[in-house]
Amino acid sequence: MDTKRLHLDRSRSPVLYRQLSDQLASAIGRGELRAGERLPSERDLAISLGVSRTTAVNAYRELESQGLIRGYVGRGTYVCAASMVSSGNGNGENGSNGAPFAWRGKLALGAQRTIDPTLRTIVRAASDPSVISFAPGVAALECFPTDAFRDISDRVLSRGARVALGLAPSEGQPLLRKALASYSGVRPEQILIMSGSQQGVDLVARCLIDPGDAIILDRPGYLGAIQTFRAAGASLVGWDAGRGDLDELEDLILRYRPKLLYTTTTFQNPTGHTWPLSQREDVLALAARYRLPIIEDDPYRTLWFRTAPPPSLFALDGGRSVIHIETFSKTLAGGLRLAWLTANEAIIDQLALVKLRDDVSTASLTQLVVAELLTSGKFTAHLATLRAEHARRHQAMLSALDRYVPPGLLSFRPVAGGLYLWCRLQSGQRASDLMLAAARAGVAFVAGEHFYPDPAGTHELRLCFTGVVPARIDEGVRRLGALIEQRATSIEQNGSGQPIV
Ligand SMILES: Cc1ncc(COP(=O)(O)O)c(C=O)c1O
Repeated sequence: MDTKRLHLDRSRSPVLYRQLSDQLASAIGRGELRAGERLPSERDLAISLGVSRTTAVNAYRELESQGLIRGYVGRGTYVCAASMVSSGNGNGENGSNGAPFAWRGKLALGAQRTIDPTLRTIVRAASDPSVISFAPGVAALECFPTDAFRDISDRVLSRGARVALGLAPSEGQPLLRKALASYSGVRPEQILIMSGSQQGVDLVARCLIDPGDAIILDRPGYLGAIQTFRAAGASLVGWDAGRGDLDELEDLILRYRPKLLYTTTTFQNPTGHTWPLSQREDVLALAARYRLPIIEDDPYRTLWFRTAPPPSLFALDGGRSVIHIETFSKTLAGGLRLAWLTANEAIIDQLALVKLRDDVSTASLTQLVVAELLTSGKFTAHLATLRAEHARRHQAMLSALDRYVPPGLLSFRPVAGGLYLWCRLQSGQRASDLMLAAARAGVAFVAGEHFYPDPAGTHELRLCFTGVVPARIDEGVRRLGALIEQRATSIEQNGSGQPIV
């Protein structure tokens, strides 16, 4: 950033930090400061402008509250994507949508931190039949046990509207809590039913996080959690759980004194990585030493192809300091919006009180139907069908990548379960550019940068292999392969590192 373009005048209003934040906001608006560009440290900025460090700190704070820049613990301050600010100058005035009222200026801090539309775009892509979508993490819906679901729904409804359609307790329908308790080997009081595991992440953030608290989380990791913890005002400290360096984790714990560790231990989103048993035991021992609670978000645990994964952290720890989150989104259907959280009764009680404020209770009918799917053994039978189909689709994607992507342009590792292939573009191509070109060709995936709590992942991308039937996987990868090849050739020809196409 060229600080010579900034002109501050002590004799004029507004106050200096405001002048500074306004000028920086304008530079971002005009595109002179681009998304992802690193800004000088507050100290350097203050020195180069001849102002106090407080002025620079306050200006950065102001811009951060507008969602224009973002500070990352230990990594510096960066400009956010301009498109994240949906209209005009970030204050809502003079927005391109001609909004008559400055709503953006009225937003609470938490909402101003909720500006990344990636998750919304992924969910939208899932419902557009014209797009071959490898973007959302969805199970093979063709395997959904429709007949059983319909029969059970009929039976539940015939028992009367009060049971099927009345409000369930905020903690969940007793029948489902009981069924899940016996499925997971815990007491019903340890279970909280939720409208999706994303709600679980949000409840945890609201119950345990105060602004400024540090959190250690997977790097790369689940983007919904990154956004939720960021909105709660937490400082996000990334740990590469795939590398599993325990010394590094201990260093981070000592340096940042985190409030909690959030992780997905099995068939992780986005990498597909599963922690070996030894890593699970070592991390639990370390967390116990520092009294660090762990949130184990575990949506993919039952989705192995051949071999079941090691026990969860929750099971190994006996549920003392681990909160475990599981969902039916990846095993039945995301649209059911049904998930559960297992933890110590005391924290369940607090989470249920906060949940009450959120959605009062989770839909009764779905809870009762799924409870019977569980107790009748139909869910277990369905899982066996689903695993086989997911393994088939995984193979279909590997074969298609082999067939259509020229050697050396994309690297990835086959996985042993879950929904995702995590890939790296080898020719210097940016995944976000490829994503735009792919969207024009009717194919969707998620660029890697969205899975990092700091600017990274430029050349990585996530492909979900389970949501699309094999013939469509083949066609989607054929289109992707053609784009990757075309762009690699063009990089080679213009030598600039970026394709012209
Ligand atoms: C780790 C993780 N947690 C939570 C979710 C959200 O799931 P749900 O549909 O149950 O809200 C996902 C979805 O991709 C995920 O990967």
